Amino acid sequence: MADTVRVLVLNGPNLGRLGSREPDTYGRADHAALVERVRRVGSRLGLDTEVRQSDDENDLVHWLHEAVDTGTPVVINPAAFTHYSYALRDAAAQVTSAGLPLVEVHLSNPGAREAFRRHSVVTPVATGTVAGFGQASYDLALQAVATLVAPAATAAADDHRADPV
Ligand code: DQA
Repeated sequence: MADTVRVLVLNGPNLGRLGSREPDTYGRADHAALVERVRRVGSRLGLDTEVRQSDDENDLVHWLHEAVDTGTPVVINPAAFTHYSYALRDAAAQVTSAGLPLVEVHLSNPGAREAFRRHSVVTPVATGTVAGFGQASYDLALQAVATLVAPAATAAADDHRADPV
């Protein structure tokens, strides 16, 4: 594949506690395992991923500004900020307004949970959303980014891998 494409993978509050935090909802794999998984899956897709996590809205907003300024696609799990942070929503809107993909990702399926989780302020400005597949949600989000940034390359790779029927 041609040059790798850089992707920022941003995780919001409490996601650093994966593994010990409500494992029946968020799984038993910790954040370090997620970082490694994203690196491995990204590299297979020709993506140079960088995972960052913060409990601080300010960090996430500034990382989204950085994505705009450097022309970098984003995968973001805004965690609880999903449901009420207009600051994050406005920063995410700058990414997609700049023509860059921004994929909202969730481990759980917030649409099937408590009422307050069923509304996302980020979804209306995201390119798309993947939710409900545990850490595999990130695999699918990266696949979406790869398809958007290098559709010809991913289609060619798919053709190459397809089993004859
Ligand atoms: C979450 C869902 C949010 O409702 C919650 O606040 C999180 C994690 C998820 O990945 O399923 O912290 O974004």
